[in-house]
Amino acid sequence: MVEVKEVSKVYKLSARKQKEWNIKSNTKIAVDNVSFRANEGEIFGLLGPNGAGKTTTLRMIATLLKPSRGSISVQGHDTVKDGDGVRSNICFLTNELKLDPQFTPRYLFSMFGRLHGMSEEEIANRQEELFNVFGISEFQDKKVDELSTGMKQKASIAVSLVHDPDVVIFDEPTNGLDIITARAVTDYLNTLKQRGKVVIISTHIMSEAEKLCDRLAMIIAGKSMFEGTVSEILERTNAADLEDAFFSVYRSTVTDEAEIRELNDYDKQIRMHEESANSQEVE
Ligand SMILES: Nc1ncnc2c1ncn2[C@@H]1O[C@H](COP(=O)(O)OP(=O)(O)OP(=O)(O)O)[C@@H](O)[C@H]1O
Ligand SMILES: [Mg+2]
Repeated sequence: MVEVKEVSKVYKLSARKQKEWNIKSNTKIAVDNVSFRANEGEIFGLLGPNGAGKTTTLRMIATLLKPSRGSISVQGHDTVKDGDGVRSNICFLTNELKLDPQFTPRYLFSMFGRLHGMSEEEIANRQEELFNVFGISEFQDKKVDELSTGMKQKASIAVSLVHDPDVVIFDEPTNGLDIITARAVTDYLNTLKQRGKVVIISTHIMSEAEKLCDRLAMIIAGKSMFEGTVSEILERTNAADLEDAFFSVYRSTVTDEAEIRELNDYDKQIRMHEESANSQEVE
């Protein structure tokens, strides 16, 4: 189980970023008091528009960033106090993490397997299974550089899953993929769910979330607006589909003049998060 409790993340901005983004404040609240729980045997979706804070939230779960406030536990391990415990239980895939283009999928798969302390036999069995599932076998000895976008993504997924983790965290797993490749990925996410894994994905594609996710959290401007099943959110917003539900939540969140001012008021953000921002690493 992954439990995110009242988590916030404040980035410190460099002078260059402040100038580039044309803002007075030297901090940016990316995630603001977000809580949710993702359980075994379910696909949990973080749904939100660009810049909502999805990747930041996932990076905190994966121990790559420390929350400014709140806490996260993964299979009972605290992400700050027991990062190693968390990392041995998860895989994390995001577009920012790329396989080294000079190596082949086969080499990378066994290298990561060894890093996870697996035996050669375990690695070979896992490789056969995952390369078959994703149709990589034919390409396993080509350099990553020479693979198509879809094949690179499938190889990244296979490599990330080498140690058969209990918690699978994928940031926009079907981003940039054609429908055939995207289907291979989402089918496998369903397989992982059936095997009792905790699967957490982020997406801004409403139809994907509607089909794939058992439960989801809707994140807008760093705040979690809703947590529940797709039917619960449709019922709550009286909407026909998730896209309508999203706009209903979005409008009620940010069409309020005061709310818009608040979202843009970086000076207020500083005051609110001064304390936590002081203890943050500079990004
Ligand atoms: N390293 C950083 N330093 C400062 N601000 C950042 C940093 N990374 C992200 N942000 C800001 O934090 C906010 C949330 O970003 P994040 O990448 O988490 O959003 P997202 O929901 O993943 O968006 P997308 O759908 O575009 O991937 C954005 O306003 C972004 O500009
Ligand atoms: Mg993102």
